[in-house]
Amino acid sequence: MSVLKRLFFISALALTSSAVAQDNVLNLYSSRHYQTDEALYAGFTKQTGIKINRIEAGEDALIARIKSEGERSPADVLITVDAGRLWRAEQMGLFQPVNSAVLETRIPASFREPHGHWFGFSMRARVIAYARSRVKPGEVPTYESLAEPKWKGRICVRSSSNIYNLSLMGALIEQLGEAQAESWAKAVRANMAREPKGGDTDQLKAVAAGECDVAISNHYYYARLARSAKAEDRAVAEKVGIVFPNQAGRGAHVNVSGAGVLKNAPHRAAAVKFLEYLAGDEAQRYFADGNNEWPVVTSVRVVNPVLAAFGTFKYDPISVAVLGRNQPASQKLYDRVAWK
Ligand SMILES: [Fe+2]
Repeated sequence: MSVLKRLFFISALALTSSAVAQDNVLNLYSSRHYQTDEALYAGFTKQTGIKINRIEAGEDALIARIKSEGERSPADVLITVDAGRLWRAEQMGLFQPVNSAVLETRIPASFREPHGHWFGFSMRARVIAYARSRVKPGEVPTYESLAEPKWKGRICVRSSSNIYNLSLMGALIEQLGEAQAESWAKAVRANMAREPKGGDTDQLKAVAAGECDVAISNHYYYARLARSAKAEDRAVAEKVGIVFPNQAGRGAHVNVSGAGVLKNAPHRAAAVKFLEYLAGDEAQRYFADGNNEWPVVTSVRVVNPVLAAFGTFKYDPISVAVLGRNQPASQKLYDRVAWK
């Protein structure tokens, strides 16, 4: 057992023996870890008197862990990213439905699971990045434009097994139909500058380094580079421009960071309270700004220089719950066109 794993195991035991027995606590399993999180959680404890115990780990590891803990899981709430991943947890039967007038009023319907199994709390966009010195933003107005032959050997994008690309394909299947979505994937595959590798940040760095001219990335990876304390990160951002695709049509593909109440939550009432807290004005600001995302509660504004520079944009209004439903078809489609 690695040191990290052992620490994780010990903290889990501590959680099981002490925290579960008390009532005024909430056991949170989260794949988030941002600076603003401390203030976010402190705000909840201040408001409700409920203490938060946190277990932080990678997204897929947390889901696997809740599944293996089964009925004895101390977890009350799972916070993770991407509707496709929330859908996976839902498919495993890990969530229980929540009916809450607060959540239903505050969170737009397209950003939550229709039966209350999970709720989106911040919004991210999957955007097109381009080399400012070699590409004009008008050349890549849509995801569809990446399929044009002019981009042969010029596109960088990560692996298709990544949840962000699976969800993007889920949206394309929904909007274009499977046949057209497959033609798109096949053409983009043929246009790649290199085999898919690395994360979104690596694609942005490859554009800046001249390895490719355009890339697909979630917007906040660009924001992180632009706001980085490291000069070399900011230099990458300066060389890269961002297009919010499909502004003249259906809008940019967006996704959520979200959370749901777990099926075996020992503290269900506290868990629902916590989700309602996350939909509040101040919590929305902390939650979204921690990762340079937008609050899903549309009346809430974050003060963030990079988001402000992006301005407002049109986004695809389909329900993010669709993305998970199309996930098996998306993976098969990517496999058929050999997009690794
Ligand atoms: Fe991410």
